[in-house]
Amino acid sequence: MNILVTGGAGFIGSHTCDMLASAGHAVRILDCLDPQIHGPHGAFPAGLAPGIERMRGDVCSMDDCLAAVEGIDAVLHLASRTGVGQSMTDVADYVETNVRGTATLIEAVTKSRARLRRFVLASSRAVYGEGLFECARHGRMHPDVRDRARLLAGRFDMPCPVCDRAMQPVPTPESCDSKPLSAYAWTKRHQEDLCQWAVSTFDIPTVILRYFNVYGSGQSLQNPYTGVVSIFYSRLKAGRSLSLYERGLPLRDFVHVQDVARANLLALEGKDAAGGCFNIGSGQPRTIADIAQALGRQIGMETVPFEDRGEFRVGDVFACVADLERAAAQLGYRPTVDLDEGMREFAAWAAGQDATDGYDKTVAELSQYGLFGAAGPKKANQAA
Ligand SMILES: NC(=O)c1ccc[n+]([C@@H]2O[C@H](COP(=O)([O-])OP(=O)(O)OC[C@H]3O[C@@H](n4cnc5c(N)ncnc54)[C@H](O)[C@@H]3O)[C@@H](O)[C@H]2O)c1
Ligand SMILES: [Zn+2]
Repeated sequence: MNILVTGGAGFIGSHTCDMLASAGHAVRILDCLDPQIHGPHGAFPAGLAPGIERMRGDVCSMDDCLAAVEGIDAVLHLASRTGVGQSMTDVADYVETNVRGTATLIEAVTKSRARLRRFVLASSRAVYGEGLFECARHGRMHPDVRDRARLLAGRFDMPCPVCDRAMQPVPTPESCDSKPLSAYAWTKRHQEDLCQWAVSTFDIPTVILRYFNVYGSGQSLQNPYTGVVSIFYSRLKAGRSLSLYERGLPLRDFVHVQDVARANLLALEGKDAAGGCFNIGSGQPRTIADIAQALGRQIGMETVPFEDRGEFRVGDVFACVADLERAAAQLGYRPTVDLDEGMREFAAWAAGQDATDGYDKTVAELSQYGLFGAAGPKKANQAA
């Protein structure tokens, strides 16, 4: 197929484009080379396979989108602003790129009368807000945002709304309802809604993929707003210690970028994929502290230096882990890269790169807007 990959110069895009080209597809990238990701003199990644067509352009420009969709059989739409924290302060920019960009791309597809065989949207687990939890007494629940006073008191867990006991996270299926907690999450939800609308109105065979926390080589070490593994790496490389949000207790599903690239390929090629919405994760729950330790192991740090400040960000969820049953059954997706192997791949790449520690800058920005808090060091009688 002739495949257009928007945002193809980015982290997930560059891995995916190489995989698509190796599988025999003709690949065209549309990417504006955002300086936050690619630096002030942005260029397409040097390692991209030579046959890949590179178009520098903006998904918010109708002219650029019309040129990009010409002669195309399938689209993988990755172009997006991606920082959860940053989206809370730069709301208009996030809506512009993520919502208007998706609308422009869909309009270009319909105006050009392209007969697409597939349109794949990169969505996010962020659309769920919190994941699914279970109280031993009161069963399964999908909770709302946690109380800020509770976080300030250093209670980093998810209380049952009925009995206040800490609930346990359970795998979140695609049928779970959407409760966005950040501006980024709202834009991903709007992208999904626009795509669902286009499917029913124009009969575009669409697949929505909800990626969980993606990590691996190529995730910008200059951008302090996304990718916790890259952010931790940059800070440790600068000789600083890590202050983990919510004491590193939050639970996430970290999936290696090679598994995500394979999922993209399956979504573009799979006969039974059209019309589906799929979680793409590892299915393995990990605390943020586990992730910091796994990174430390691969960069030769026997112990990772932590500072206990009890910091937290407004808009972060406590836990979300993928239920992969549907992706396995209908897409044939199975994650293959385990955490240590994936971290080794990241560390080997990062060793040859420049890194910028921007943690203090992001904290200062969030603090200005009242989006950052600290419970202080853990007290002796505190449970979590
Ligand atoms: N990385 C993750 O953990 C993760 C998790 C869930 C969902 N996603 C989604 O996956 C997609 C890719 O994310 P990524 O991690 O590769 O991010 P990335 O920032 O590395 O890549 C995004 C690319 O989009 C380009 N871009 C930004 N605005 C653009 C515009 N207006 N026009 C054209 N190109 C533009 C950027 O230059 C960049 O190359 C995004 O849609 C993101 O929301 C990522
Ligand atoms: Zn309960």
